[in-house]
Amino acid sequence: MSGSGSSAPGRAGVLAGRTIVLGVAGGVAAYKAAEVARGLVRAGARVLPVLTRSAERFVGAVTFSGLTGEPVRTDMWDASFAGELHVDLARRADLVLVVPATADLLARLAAGRADDLLAATVLCARGPVLVAPAMHPRMWGHPATMRNVATLRADGRVRFVGPVHGEVASGEVGLGRLEDPEAIVRAAAAALAPETRDLAGARFVVTAGPTYEPLDPVRFLGNRSSGKMGFALAERAAARGAEVTLVAGPVGLATPQGVTRIDVGTTAELASELDRALGPDLDGADVLVMAAAVADYRPRSPSAAKLKKGTAPKAIELDENPDVLAGIGARRRGQRPVLVGFALETGDDEAIVAYATKKRASKKVDLVVANAAEALGKDESRVLLVGEGGVVPVERLPKGDVADRILDAVARRLAATGG
Ligand code: CTP
Repeated sequence: MSGSGSSAPGRAGVLAGRTIVLGVAGGVAAYKAAEVARGLVRAGARVLPVLTRSAERFVGAVTFSGLTGEPVRTDMWDASFAGELHVDLARRADLVLVVPATADLLARLAAGRADDLLAATVLCARGPVLVAPAMHPRMWGHPATMRNVATLRADGRVRFVGPVHGEVASGEVGLGRLEDPEAIVRAAAAALAPETRDLAGARFVVTAGPTYEPLDPVRFLGNRSSGKMGFALAERAAARGAEVTLVAGPVGLATPQGVTRIDVGTTAELASELDRALGPDLDGADVLVMAAAVADYRPRSPSAAKLKKGTAPKAIELDENPDVLAGIGARRRGQRPVLVGFALETGDDEAIVAYATKKRASKKVDLVVANAAEALGKDESRVLLVGEGGVVPVERLPKGDVADRILDAVARRLAATGG
C-alpha cells in the first residue's frame, strides 16, 4: 500500500518496535502463519507466538521460535513462566493477531471462552485483536459460524481480515481461503496505525444499498447492490470522528460501530428519511454521501394482493423515480453539504470518466466516485474519483481502504470550503 497523500491507516513503519502476539489455531493454513511471522519480524515487530494444541499438529513450534527468536507458548500452565501467562501476553501485546482463525476458535471467542492460552489471551487483550479466518467454505457459510462472526463484529472487540474467495485445502473453491500473508501484515499495520480524527465534528449522512420497489407484497424491482461500499464509508467516517447517520436500503450487513442507522425500503422512503436528516435548508449535515443504488423506476400500480400465476400482466408499467441526489444538488445554496455521488458504469475507464463527469455537472455535486459494475458485491473495488481538480484513480483495494481515500477527498473539500 503506497499511502501517498492519504491520511488513511495502514501505513508502513507502524510495525517497527511493536509487540504482536501471533496466535496460530489448528488448520491447514497454519503453515502460512509462518510467512506472516516473517513479514512482521521484517517490518521490525517483536512477535510472540502462541500455538493452540491442534496448531502444533499442523506446524512445528521450532519454525515459529526460529522465525521470531521468541519461545513458543501453548500452555496456560507453562511451568517455565512464573505468573499468569495469558495476562502477561495480553499486557505486552500492542496487537493480538490470529492466523488462521478456525471455526472452532471463532466459536470459542464469540462465547467468551478462556479454555486455552490463545482464547484466554484474546479475552484479556487490551489493544486491537485481528483475526484472519480460514476454513472450508461450508464451515464459513454455516449459520453457526456466521452467527459467531456477527457476534464478534457487534461486540466491536475483534476485527477481521478475510477470508477471501479461492481454492481451499480440499481443492474446492469458495469463500474461506486465508487472506494473503502480505495483506494480513498490512492489515496488522492498519490496526496499529493511530486513527486520524480528521473528521471530528463533521456531520455525515451516508446512503447505502439498493432500494426495492414493490410489484406486489412479495415481489419487487431492485438491483444487486450489496451496500458494502456505503457501510464501509459510514464505518470509516465514524472511526475518523464524524457523526454519521446511515440510511440503509435492504441489505444484510451489521451496523458499523458508532453509526446511527435508519432502514428504508423504497426510493420514496429513502428520499423522505433524507429530507428529515438534512432538513428543509439542507443544514442538517456537512456531507451527504449517496452510495445507495437508488432504483430509477417503480411499478406504476403495485398490487395490494399477491399476483397469481397466469393472471399477472405481461408488461409492467413503470414510473420514473425522482433523482434524489440531483434534487438536493439543485436545492443547495452555497457549499454545504458537500455532495458525493456514485456512478456505476460499464465500459473502459475513459467512458466511465466521461459519464461520471457528466453526472457531476448534471447533479451539481462536488465529487463523483465512478466504479465499474464488476465491483458489485465484492469486498474490493477500484474507483476513479472525479472532482473539481480532475480525476484521481484509486487502485484496487479493500472497500474500507477505498472508503478512506474517498473520505480523504471529502476532508480536503471540507477544509477548502471552511472546515
Ligand atoms: N441517484 C439518486 N436518485 C436516483 C438515482 C440515482 O439519488 N433516482 C444517485 C445515486 O445514489 C448515485 C448517483 O445518483 O449517487 C448516480 O446514480 P446512477 O444510477 O449511476 O445514475 P443515473 O443518473 O441514474 O444515470 P444512469 O442510470 O443513466 O447511469
